[in-house]
Amino acid sequence: MRILVTGGAGFIGSNFVHLVYLEHPDWHITVFDSLTYAGNEKNLEGLDPSRYKFIKGDICDEAAIDAAVADCDTVVHFAAESHVDNSVHTPWPFVNSNIVGTYQVLEAVRKHNKHLHHISTDEVFGDLGPNDPKFNEKTPYDPSSPYSATKAGSDHLVRAWIRSFGIQATISNCSNNYGPYQHVEKFIPRQITEIMEGRKPKLYGTGEAIRDWIHAEDHSSAILTILEKGKIGETYMVGTNGEKSGKESIALILELMGKPADFYEHVNDRPGHDYRYAIDGSKIRTELGWQPKYTDFREGLRSTIDWYKANEAWWRPQKEATEAKYKELGR
Ligand code: NAD
Ligand code: DAU
Repeated sequence: MRILVTGGAGFIGSNFVHLVYLEHPDWHITVFDSLTYAGNEKNLEGLDPSRYKFIKGDICDEAAIDAAVADCDTVVHFAAESHVDNSVHTPWPFVNSNIVGTYQVLEAVRKHNKHLHHISTDEVFGDLGPNDPKFNEKTPYDPSSPYSATKAGSDHLVRAWIRSFGIQATISNCSNNYGPYQHVEKFIPRQITEIMEGRKPKLYGTGEAIRDWIHAEDHSSAILTILEKGKIGETYMVGTNGEKSGKESIALILELMGKPADFYEHVNDRPGHDYRYAIDGSKIRTELGWQPKYTDFREGLRSTIDWYKANEAWWRPQKEATEAKYKELGR
């Protein structure tokens, strides 16, 4: 098996590459990544070049992605602009990478008759009220931000290529990931590293927005399960019943890092901020037998905090520029 992983130098993509490397010593992995501010080749250190290759390339570059797809059996497509705040500030890279880039991946997959798994997000369904049922595979699309609208667009393209051209593809929509190697722009690493810097964590608005947290290793194992057992043409929701409000998550981080419970501040809210995401992940469990490993958020957070404490050299180069961007936004 020759597997091509687009966006494999990012947070979840690199986690997935390490899982495949461990679980499938007979597979050859090629990472295709343009190394945006969010990509980091250090995430892929230690892989044996006889089993792994890195291609620096942009999925919007038709010839480059065509050649890479021609040379593999399966594509797992992670590459995307991923941060909502950036999309509200500057939407074009999201339209380009998430929609145009996915189009180029699909055309290459169609031309060379390859298998594709497309990585998507629960944000494509919009947000939920406090008592609404969780998202499932039949929930209508209703995206709110330029990020989620472009991810929704990419899902629609994949579905259209399955139906109109008969490409062999599956899709997964996962909830909020956390764990090692996540960029410090995202909620959990931002708060951990703010505390390490002696500053207060920052809660958008009232801090009541709810996210459904899943450890990136569980997301990766779910994707691998779909590759091994998923049914072509199907969509799978991925989540681990990890709903927590911003306030609850901050309280846990403060406690685990030995800080007083009131050591945080409220900052400007995100425009169009989605209130609640929650995933009904029963299909992948019942139909494919997938089970998560990290069922205790507290323990997952503790090990993530330990990782950021032990790996300052990894996140330090991103921190100053990230906080300068937030300062500009009053967040
Ligand atoms: P990330 O921002 O950490 O990584 C994205 C990677 O894609 C980077 O390595 C970047 O260099 C690469 N990339 C971006 N544009 C590219 C382009 N045009 N060509 C080639 N490479 C490009 O993102 P992440 O959090 O690891 O998310 C990965 C995927 O998972 C995305 O598709 C995202 O929508 C999806 N997802 C993320 C979450 C989450 O909580 N982070 C949850 C569900 C789904
Ligand atoms: O749901 C899956 C999505 O989760 C993925 O598709 C996205 O790629 C990923 O970035 C993430 O999107 P969110 O917008 O939910 O994640 P973020 O880490 O930006 O914010 C999580 C919550 O925390 C959200 O309610 C906003 C809030 N927040 C965020 C930051 C950065 C704060 O309160 N303070 C902060 O400093």
